[in-house]
Amino acid sequence: MAKIKIDWSNLTFSFRKTKTMYMATFGKDRKWDTGCFLPFGNVSMSPAAGVLNYGQGLFEGLKAQHTRDNKIVLFRPIENGRRIVDGCKRLCMPEFPPRRFVEIVKELVRKNREYIPPYGKGSLYIRPCLWGTGAILGVAPAPEYTFIAFTCPVGPYYKGGMTPIKIEFTADFHRSAPRGTGHVKSISNYAGTMYPSKLAKSRGYADCAYLDARSDRFIEEVGGANFFCLKGNKLSTPVTGSILPGITRKSVMTIARDILKLDVREREIPVAEAMAADECFCTGTAAVISPIGALTFKGKTHVVGGKFRVGETTSRLYSLLTKIQLQEETDRWNWVVEVPVR
Ligand code: PLP
Ligand code: COI
Repeated sequence: MAKIKIDWSNLTFSFRKTKTMYMATFGKDRKWDTGCFLPFGNVSMSPAAGVLNYGQGLFEGLKAQHTRDNKIVLFRPIENGRRIVDGCKRLCMPEFPPRRFVEIVKELVRKNREYIPPYGKGSLYIRPCLWGTGAILGVAPAPEYTFIAFTCPVGPYYKGGMTPIKIEFTADFHRSAPRGTGHVKSISNYAGTMYPSKLAKSRGYADCAYLDARSDRFIEEVGGANFFCLKGNKLSTPVTGSILPGITRKSVMTIARDILKLDVREREIPVAEAMAADECFCTGTAAVISPIGALTFKGKTHVVGGKFRVGETTSRLYSLLTKIQLQEETDRWNWVVEVPVR
């Protein structure tokens, strides 16, 4: 298929509209309608919509890629479908069925396939959203909901991809609170990270990372990606109850355990421990695996492992994950889903 005119070699993680989006509505009859694919465009809703006034909304993120032999593949899309259901429960929204979610994502990718970057040049990012679009005045679940999914061709989330980044732990802000909404992909979790992230960026860091709001001692995550650190054979990732359970995080833990035979632990990680780690990295659909070269906390900077470079294990995990995603390594867990082109 002929590609549209895009400078594929210089893609960044930024918005660009594509041809087709999907929209379904959950109305007063308390059912999801059959939905439809339509040209990408603006949506209209009441100024009193629950999502606009009270943040009753969720989003997801997943990627479609071209393999070397030009197949189109998705990575664990059912997990995104399940995570949105978890979010629906927490935010009192009607559940969108995960299998239907996957079928819509596949068809949306097919319909926008000329926007999938060529092999090795990037991905087609898929952004499903679920919003309370019915009008409501009191703080309560909206009477109507809209599920929308659109796509966007993207390059690396952090400039330079596999180049090490500098991260600052903030002592001034928290991302989420114990028993709050940090563990679901609620839209309300993100606006509050913009100011801390802007401050960190103005000081030369790629992003800021957060500590837990209960004790201010344990690492939570980076604003849009999970955190890992390695010491010897022990790979650790935070578990605090208020982090987002990343699909990349879960996959990296499995690969590290099953293929690299690392001792993988989900546990509370004090900042001082990460500062003394051999390697650190963050993971996410957008971030993939981004190596962390230096960590700063309260003005003190530690170069991870004593050298500002990509660690050997980080590099092996990156290679294994991305090759599994592109069907270049055995996918023993059946994570990769092909999107047949009809
Ligand atoms: N943490 C936050 C706050 C996120 O928004 C994301 C992105 O989805 C992640 C972590 C990584 O999750 P995943 O690997 O499922 O993309
Ligand atoms: C993703 O990785 O898909 C996310 O949703 C993170 C977001 C900050 C871009």
